[in-house]
Amino acid sequence: MRDVMERVKEKTGIPVYERSVENVLSAVLASDDIWRVVDLSEEPLPLVVAILGALSEGGYVAFKDNRVLLTQSGKELVENYGIGERKDYTCSHCGGKTVELDAFSDLLEQFKEITRDRPEPAHQFDQAYVTPETTVARIALMHTRGDLENKEVFVLGDDDLTSVALMLSGLPKRIAVLDIDERLVRFIEKVADEIGYSNIEMFTFDLRKPLPDYALHKFDTFITDPPETVHAIRSFVGRGIATLKGPGCAGYFGITRRESSLDKWREIQRVLLNEFNVVITDIIRNFNEYVNWGYAEETRAWQLIPIKTLPKHNWYKSYMFRIQTLEGSRGFEDEITVGKELYDDEESSTT
Ligand SMILES: [Fe+2]
Repeated sequence: MRDVMERVKEKTGIPVYERSVENVLSAVLASDDIWRVVDLSEEPLPLVVAILGALSEGGYVAFKDNRVLLTQSGKELVENYGIGERKDYTCSHCGGKTVELDAFSDLLEQFKEITRDRPEPAHQFDQAYVTPETTVARIALMHTRGDLENKEVFVLGDDDLTSVALMLSGLPKRIAVLDIDERLVRFIEKVADEIGYSNIEMFTFDLRKPLPDYALHKFDTFITDPPETVHAIRSFVGRGIATLKGPGCAGYFGITRRESSLDKWREIQRVLLNEFNVVITDIIRNFNEYVNWGYAEETRAWQLIPIKTLPKHNWYKSYMFRIQTLEGSRGFEDEITVGKELYDDEESSTT
């Protein structure tokens, strides 16, 4: 095991623990599909690749017929360390989302119908989008927490078309949407026209710029899905917090394990607690499930994985965070000057 750890450290600067190797071996025992191994191990994809590489060099795993397999030495290794197969007992009724969609089944059908001709994700904007069930589950979740009905809701970046589901729900008093992609803004405008919804404002806007006055301190609830660097999370979530009226407001955003180690999670949580002075009320594991994107073969993940096979299941998921503002909470209103490093760090792989 020590030998494996040393080899991993030569390959990547991402923190590696014995537990990380154990997680990957446990996942390999459960599945021979590389995407499922990443999914189950809950380690950042580049780290999973480094660990598998080290295990392969040590003769513990083999890549054969597009599958990840334990060799005889690999089987002895897991036996010696008492590593068992990773189980998945996620609730099959809600898929682990903690909310049920029964009351929203009409909304879900309408949402699927309306978004059928949605603009496809643009690689340049890091736009993977979530399943329709995820978008509608967000409405159920936010409503359950009292954050939608007669509230003013801000959507910062809307490749998931959450604003469409919000309009269909009829719950918010007012919706505002910012997105850098004009195609999305036009699409949402078209939907609002078609369903005759007027309490929505849309803006084509680059979130790297400070928010204009009309957006600051005017909303009860925000939702955003930031790129996964600490700086991007600071910027996007911080901007979200800056749109809120004051104490007692709420914000929602996804953070993944696929591109963020727990070391990074600790930094993120520090930003939330120490810089923004907000409280984390909910973290729901794998709440957000993403549809596999059409540009998979252009991503770093594709370059990295030792087995060039496209994912057969939705392997990319993120945990849903809900934060609430208290007395003394504050957002982030500065200009962002960094370029590509806003989207990429060593742990990222989908841009
Ligand atoms: Fe459940």
